Amino acid sequence: MASEPRPDVSVEANANANATDSEPLLSVRDLTVTFPTPEGPVRAVDRLSFDVGRGRTLGIVGESGSGKSVTSMAVMGLHTGAEVTGSVTLDGTELTGLAERELNRLRGRRMAMVFQDPLSSLHPYYTVGEQIAEHHRVHFGSRRAAARRRAVEMLAEVGIPEAARRAGEYPHQFSGGMRQRVMIAMALACEPDLLLADEPTTALDVTVQAQILELIARIQQERSLAVVLITHDLGVVARVAHEVLVMYGGLAAEQAPVETLFAAPAHPYTRGLLDSLPRLDDTDDVPLRAIPGSPPSLLTPAPGCAFAPRCPRAAAADTDTRERCTRLRPRLTRSGDHAVACHLPLGKATP
Ligand SMILES: Nc1ncnc2c1ncn2[C@@H]1O[C@H](COP(=O)(O)OP(=O)(O)OP(=O)(O)O)[C@@H](O)[C@H]1O
Ligand code: SF4
Ligand SMILES: [Mg+2]
Repeated sequence: MASEPRPDVSVEANANANATDSEPLLSVRDLTVTFPTPEGPVRAVDRLSFDVGRGRTLGIVGESGSGKSVTSMAVMGLHTGAEVTGSVTLDGTELTGLAERELNRLRGRRMAMVFQDPLSSLHPYYTVGEQIAEHHRVHFGSRRAAARRRAVEMLAEVGIPEAARRAGEYPHQFSGGMRQRVMIAMALACEPDLLLADEPTTALDVTVQAQILELIARIQQERSLAVVLITHDLGVVARVAHEVLVMYGGLAAEQAPVETLFAAPAHPYTRGLLDSLPRLDDTDDVPLRAIPGSPPSLLTPAPGCAFAPRCPRAAAADTDTRERCTRLRPRLTRSGDHAVACHLPLGKATP
């Protein structure tokens, strides 16, 4: 392991981690989401388990289609028409199977979500101040003037200059980065305990992306928020996450504290993601590295390891191991706070 090159990513997370309660705020156990489709059932998330404590950030990473958004929507109870099994508890309250009315009360108030595209979540005909104030009024029953004051306070807190004036403007009058700040203000207006952020910075340029990530990290620290940050970018995870869940084909491939994941990744897929990060010594004409091959079919999943057709580790192994990889699905095996689903994790000699 030690001889394998590491990408040039500095892991800053945990340096300023808050003290956490011993009980996780969010606890997900064996979460499985299956969509009925004309071609057959699609299992988009398969027996996923994770915890997020107060003041902690869990980064969920994986390629497109790996089940990141489906997971976050399932936590929020937003899947209609899908079969959702397993358990999701927020501060001890079981959310799966909860009546829609109860879920509505919790959404926004105890848990909130920020999406990649703020325009899809903001109403074009209302000012941003009205929208944040309305959100506050619905959940706290506050009077209009108080809700409006709170909206301006929130816009100021997320770094929008001249917040009182800008509260009277419409979403289209804001830049992409500022709109994302408005979404964060709206999500945090009701002081939730849990924030789910689904690719909140993907559409933004690098500088604005860094500002938004810093904003989320600051607010998280100040409020001891539990954060689930979904991204396909391990560089983003390195900046802000404390723990990381790597998903592949709807399954957990690897789970570890961020430092462990970057220093000693155990799953060949994680290794591939790390290797595809740009390096400091790259010259301009080096093409972006990508993991060869395509993501697995969720409609007709292979019996063995979902990563087997793309796995360089299996390709280099002996025939028996290769056969095991293609026939037998690896179980997620935990050693302390590091879990990996692989028959031949990195760090073990290749037969
Ligand atoms: N409504 C649906 N009906 C059927 N299948 C669905 C539905 N929603 C999601 N899926 C399946 O679940 C898979 C995972 O989707 P998801 O949106 O969670 O991916 P993701 O990891 O968030 O990807 P991206 O990085 O592109 O956002 C999809 O590839 C698709 O096969
Ligand atoms: S189980 Fe086999 S195919 Fe899957 S990641 Fe591990 S070595 Fe590769
Ligand atoms: Mg997604």
